[in-house]
Amino acid sequence: MYSFTVNGQPVTSETDKKLSHFLRDDLHLTGTKDGCDQGACGACTVLINGKAFNSCLFNLSKLEGKEITTIEGITERQKEVFAYAFAKTGAVQCGYCIPGMLVSAIGLLNKKPEANEEEIRKGIRGNICRCTGYVKIVEGIQLAAK
Ligand code: FES
Repeated sequence: MYSFTVNGQPVTSETDKKLSHFLRDDLHLTGTKDGCDQGACGACTVLINGKAFNSCLFNLSKLEGKEITTIEGITERQKEVFAYAFAKTGAVQCGYCIPGMLVSAIGLLNKKPEANEEEIRKGIRGNICRCTGYVKIVEGIQLAAK
């Protein structure tokens, strides 16, 4: 049996599987996207003890006692700030990458609240966006960080 928390709630699983599959299929937290399923796109990013990781690369057996935060579990304040900043900068097109992008940005800002443009670009380099060219996403994160 594997035990950890997701968005502050204790959860358990009898079987080992990828965290991304557990979140989507068992907990129905579908904000975590299943893009490539092999660690290449960042759409499945979640926070594990406050740091951003690709949930498709973590099996439940590696998560005993850890705190997982998905896009659904970010704070109301974070939701408000990022919704405003991303709307203001026009950072969202199709939106598929955005949950993972936001979780990566929050993981970065948890570590480095004053992150500069270069650090933001590094912080989201594992998150692939096919629409925007990243400029407006970086501007959105910079605005959210203010
Ligand atoms: Fe996990 Fe693409 S689905 S990195």
